[in-house]
Amino acid sequence: MCGIVGYIGSNDIKNFLLQGLKELEYRGYDSAGLAVIEKDSMQVFKAVGKIKNLEEKTKDFKTKNFGIGIAHTRWATHGKPTELNAHPHLGEFSYVVHNGIIENYKELKTELEENGYNFISQTDTETIVHLFEDYYKKSKSPFEAFEKTVSKLDGAYAILLITKAAPDTIFFAKNGSPLIIGKNEKNEIFFASSDAPLIGYAKEVAYLEDHIYGYVNKEGIKTFLEKEEKNLEFKPLTANKELAQKGGFRFFMEKEIYEQSRVISETMMGRVKADKIEFEEIEEGFFTEIENIKICACGTSYHAGLSASYLFERLSKIPTNVEIASEFRYKEPILNKKTLFIVISQSGETADTLEALKMAKNAGLKTLAICNVDNSSIVRMADRTILTRAGIEKGVASTKAFATQMMVLWMLSLYLAQKRATLDKESISKEIDSMLHIPKVLVVETSLHEKIKRLSKRYLHGHGFFYIGRDIFYPLALEGALKLKEISYLHAEGYPAGEMKHGPIALADPELFTIALMPKNLLYDKIKSNVEELSARDSTILAISPLEFDIADDFIKIKEYNHYMLEYFEMMLIIQLLALEIATRLGNDVDMPRNLAKSVTVE
Ligand code: M6R
Repeated sequence: MCGIVGYIGSNDIKNFLLQGLKELEYRGYDSAGLAVIEKDSMQVFKAVGKIKNLEEKTKDFKTKNFGIGIAHTRWATHGKPTELNAHPHLGEFSYVVHNGIIENYKELKTELEENGYNFISQTDTETIVHLFEDYYKKSKSPFEAFEKTVSKLDGAYAILLITKAAPDTIFFAKNGSPLIIGKNEKNEIFFASSDAPLIGYAKEVAYLEDHIYGYVNKEGIKTFLEKEEKNLEFKPLTANKELAQKGGFRFFMEKEIYEQSRVISETMMGRVKADKIEFEEIEEGFFTEIENIKICACGTSYHAGLSASYLFERLSKIPTNVEIASEFRYKEPILNKKTLFIVISQSGETADTLEALKMAKNAGLKTLAICNVDNSSIVRMADRTILTRAGIEKGVASTKAFATQMMVLWMLSLYLAQKRATLDKESISKEIDSMLHIPKVLVVETSLHEKIKRLSKRYLHGHGFFYIGRDIFYPLALEGALKLKEISYLHAEGYPAGEMKHGPIALADPELFTIALMPKNLLYDKIKSNVEELSARDSTILAISPLEFDIADDFIKIKEYNHYMLEYFEMMLIIQLLALEIATRLGNDVDMPRNLAKSVTVE
């Protein structure tokens, strides 16, 4: 996801900005840029690709005096990763950098264009700088203009804006996307999207809350909330960079589990409207004449695909078939041009998935990638892409990428249901209401995490784990078993609960751990009978359900919801935390488990 840094002071501005951007590289990006106002001169540099390209472009640019600067790494959401779309975006006399998505940018842009403003990028961000300048021309007060601009923006943003109209001031605003202000005893003030760029520079930092805006200049920092001045709470800054990148969590995987609530909001942003789903990246006619769907993927992405097949059939009434990419490649599949071919991949570089995609393209199928990395090989090859917007995922065990894939797939099944009129308006609105609740479901409550930590000590041995579920909870069971296997090295299998009696139940004894996914809203009585059968044969049961279940040895209660997808997402969180805590107790390297690579670029 995009990253921001900013600086005001008399030290080497360019150096801080470039070093800061490097510290934010872990967030993922495809272009970068910076703008500086020193004395009266305003300079901007942008480059596609790595920070070193920006370094190269700025090598003859020196900063020595008092000045202000803003910089940005861009992870493309609106528009391709090009120099024109890279930040900072320029108006006539101001520059802006922005992390997030301005949901109402189209309306604002139309209005500005009608008033004679020319847009040169495809981004939502450019709207901010023109809007600011438009208000400034009317009020002649840069702060008033900025305050008014911010009040017009819907969506998520962390914004830094500089302008020749106030050449010693940085304006800032924050809502939904992270922004931190740091300061030191030398009267330097810093901005960044996370702690890491500030370590070694700032002594104290304040983590801005949503809806805060204000400005910094030589006199200091002024912050406001709803037009009232508000003081910030500064805390000392840690000196440990790695800890800062992990945001205080023990592992990247843990951090990524905790990030799910936030990134899923980004996945939905601009796509989930009050009564419909929209995908700006796909034109109206793309899905016409599609009679069925085939999904290909590997590992966790395959589990997302398998889960999606239940949604595509249930909600959009499209026959859907899912295949593991490495199997698909060599089976001489019969492909039909009326099939929409979907590939799902976090990295966009998985060799088997890429090869499957090539086969589908060569056979003339319409292809759609659901991917987390823009400009990756899969994205470049597919006809269309929906980006999942999870931000860079560092833990080898995929967590937030899976959550965002599932959200995209759920949105897509509803989008197709709209198009094909397989659900009435009321049902679509109900689905959307549930969808909008997911960020809340994914907030990790301390009591839940503590409970899982405690429980984990009872699951460190045994001769195996069965994760069981029915319907869409079956692929979730597969995912639970994969998470545990990958990082704990314990044997685990996912099974459709109804299949247990066809063989696997022979393994049941107290040393066989059954993790039972028991949603209230989907086939509760059926899964209950399956779990009872296992309990009668003395398997140790850990039940996850909103409904009390007496015969379980251990029980994790989820909240009562009225939609199975809310149960799905909460259970997903629980199985991720369970794997994390078991692996941690076993002393394993959670982020880099043995024998595994984050991106599998060989077959
Ligand atoms: O990048 P991709 O989504 O294409 O990767 C597919 C699998 O290699 C990946 O999901 C793998 O199974 C993860 N380690 C799961 O946690």
